[in-house]
Amino acid sequence: MSAVGNAFENVKAVILSAHKSATPRAKVGFYNSWAENYDQDVAVLEYRAPSLAANCISSYFSGEREAAIVLDVACGTGLVAKQSVSDVQMKKHGFQHFVGVDGSQAMLEIAKGTALYQDLKQSLLGEDLLPVQWEGSFDVVVIVGALSVGQVPVGVVRDLCKSTKPGGYVCMTTRSNLDNQGYKAALECELRKMEEEGLWTCVQVTEVEEWERAVAEQEDGYISGAVYLYRKSETVQNIRT
Ligand SMILES: C[S@@+](CC[C@H](N)C(=O)[O-])C[C@H]1O[C@@H](n2cnc3c(N)ncnc32)[C@H](O)[C@@H]1O
Repeated sequence: MSAVGNAFENVKAVILSAHKSATPRAKVGFYNSWAENYDQDVAVLEYRAPSLAANCISSYFSGEREAAIVLDVACGTGLVAKQSVSDVQMKKHGFQHFVGVDGSQAMLEIAKGTALYQDLKQSLLGEDLLPVQWEGSFDVVVIVGALSVGQVPVGVVRDLCKSTKPGGYVCMTTRSNLDNQGYKAALECELRKMEEEGLWTCVQVTEVEEWERAVAEQEDGYISGAVYLYRKSETVQNIRT
């Protein structure tokens, strides 16, 4: 699959073809076919979510960055970890140790080529659980561009919290456009419920107007999105379910 010349119209057609993938498994199949062109195509979309999440984490993380271990969930090709000329991602902020997980083998192959990840695991979230031995292990857990309708189910955020060290951070992003409204409401409901249960505290929620360029027929210009940062409670015990 290729967006010839990366013209916006071609990228738009590629993204719209993904809407035919109704299940997470089918969506991951779509990413397998898109992997090779993903980085250049999302640049055309002006996709800023990885750097917005990295900036948000960097503003609050006060620990030793060189020693911190970051779990990048739905890591794709590794845009959250990478540093590029124009964007400031986790590596540029001083983080050096990354573990990645994604459902798409082809996306993981590209992430492997960055040499930034000490471990990469294929896992279809929603069906597979994150490894039990990861519980309470990570200083930062981040998921960017994958919490949305047809991708990673909302319930997976509990697993993200479990994998985080007490006092560690969980950073999540979602889209705020029309087709994701129901998912976003369900996500926010789950985040609040987990706070009421004492699992974590909300540190910051940032609504961003110009998240990325709109591709749907009924949308123009840019769609909006949101970055959520939560801090896991110091006292929470991991309960294996
Ligand atoms: C938009 S990309 C985001 C990749 C990267 N985080 C970024 O911001 O560039 C979404 C990623 O989520 C992965 N994904 C979607 N649904 C998934 C699921 N249920 N389990 C595991 N990975 C999933 C896809 O394979 C893809 O790599």
